[in-house]
Amino acid sequence: MESPHTLQQHSLINRHHREELNRHPSLNLWFTGLSGSGKSTLAHAVEERLHRIGCHTYVFDGDNVRHGLCGDLDFSLADRTENIRRIAEMIRLFLDAGIISLTAFISPLQIDRELARKIIGAENIIEIYCNCPLEICEQRDVKGLYKKARSGEITNYTGISSPYEAPEAPDILLDTGSSPIDECVATIIAVLYKRGIVKSC
Ligand code: ADX
Repeated sequence: MESPHTLQQHSLINRHHREELNRHPSLNLWFTGLSGSGKSTLAHAVEERLHRIGCHTYVFDGDNVRHGLCGDLDFSLADRTENIRRIAEMIRLFLDAGIISLTAFISPLQIDRELARKIIGAENIIEIYCNCPLEICEQRDVKGLYKKARSGEITNYTGISSPYEAPEAPDILLDTGSSPIDECVATIIAVLYKRGIVKSC
């Protein structure tokens, strides 16, 4: 999609130059899962590990982004699609900037995750499914939102009154209901090592 009467400006310095300067490829780690499944916690823990070994990183978190860039969107399925589309476009720019981005969004619909993959490019994205049973997310209820969703105070709540479609073939599947966080981080770092993104585990 593009606005009419616009031309793209080309930069002398491109993604390849920035990646060379950074000494690592740019990439996106896309975390998906129910609210309370551990997406943000995990994204930040992985970022910390990557930062310590000299990688240039940035975490996009659903709650934070909805305070600014996507603050005009609600939780209808149509607005969730627009939320994911904007994030994916943002990630495309961050790839060009040479950054390893980590995105923590529920991204409940398969079709929206497919759209994100198309915008970002299949070769640039690693999809990580934080698989945590609804009962455990609800038990944790860190933000108290499940309680509000059950009482009807919040409508369209994922897992309660709005759908979550689990990815059928995620690149990484984590049992975030039972596996300790360190183990999950290690699994992700090992995949990055295997793919040559990072040089040490
Ligand atoms: S997404 O579906 O569009 O990907 P996103 O990840 O941006 O969702 O935002 C999810 C966060 O918004 C949740 O972690 C929760 O804190 C908050 N939230 C508020 N209302 C809802 C709702 N109706 N459904 C899900 N999450 C909600």
